[in-house]
Amino acid sequence: MTIGVFDSGLGGLTIVATMRSQLPGANIIYIADTANAPYGEKTKEQILNYSIHITDYLVEHHHIDALVVACNTATSAAIIELRERYSNLIIVGTEPGLKPAISHSETKKVGVLATPATLEGEKYKALVAMLSNHYHVEVFEQPCPGLVQQIESGETTSDKTLSMLETWLSPMRDHNVDTIVLGCTHYPLVKESIQRVMRRSITFIDSAEGVTKRLIYLLSEKGHEFHGKTSLHLFSTGPIDTTMVETILGENFRVSVINSLN
Ligand code: DGL
Repeated sequence: MTIGVFDSGLGGLTIVATMRSQLPGANIIYIADTANAPYGEKTKEQILNYSIHITDYLVEHHHIDALVVACNTATSAAIIELRERYSNLIIVGTEPGLKPAISHSETKKVGVLATPATLEGEKYKALVAMLSNHYHVEVFEQPCPGLVQQIESGETTSDKTLSMLETWLSPMRDHNVDTIVLGCTHYPLVKESIQRVMRRSITFIDSAEGVTKRLIYLLSEKGHEFHGKTSLHLFSTGPIDTTMVETILGENFRVSVINSLN
C-alpha cells in the first residue's frame, strides 16, 4: 500500500507524524514542494497546477494507491479537479476543522487561522455559511501571510514570529476566543507560541487525526490490510530545513531533493 502525500513544505509532515503511527505496512512517499512555497499567497490556478503536477508524478513514478493532500490551501484550490482527473484513486483532503471547534468552544467564540488563499476559497466560505446557519457562534478569521515562511526557516518561537502572532491574535484574545482552528498544516508547529500570545488555555483543532481516520476508512473499504513495517521517503523540490523535519518526525530522515518532477 503506497500512499502519496504532499504539501508546499514542512506542514504536511504534521499529518504524516500521525499517519505513521496508525498505518502499519504503509509505504509513505512525501513531497514537500518548497520550490513553490508558500502556496497560500499564490493564485488558485498556480496552486492547481502544482497539485496536478505532483499528483501526476506520484501516480506515474510511485504507483500510489492513495493520495493525501496534506495542505488546506491545495485542498481548497484543487481537490475537485484532482478527484475528476484521478477518479480511481483514493484521495483525502485537509480542511479547517470548524465544526469540531464550535462543539468544543465554551465561549462560542472560535478563531480560524489559515492562509489567505484558504480563507478566500469557495470551499471555506460555503462551510462558514452552512455552520453559521446552524450554530450560534462568532467566528474570528485571520489570514497569516508570512507565517509559513517563518516556520519553514525554523523560526517557530522567534521575536518576529511572536510579534506577528501578537498582531493577529490580540482581537481574538480581547473577544474571549477559547478554541482555535489551525487551518494550515504548518500551524501546529507554532501552537506553543500561539498559546503564549493568547495568555489563556486554548483548545486547538488540527486535522491530523481526522485525515488519518478518513484514509484508514477508505483504504479498509478497498480491502487494504494494515500490518508490517511502515516506511517513509521524503522528497523536496527545493531547500528544506532538515532540523525542522527531525523535530516534527522525532527522528532524522534523509530528504532527497528532486529538481524536476517529470
Ligand atoms: N501547509 C499549507 C496549508 O495547509 C500551505 C502553506 C503555504 O504554503 O502557504 O494550507
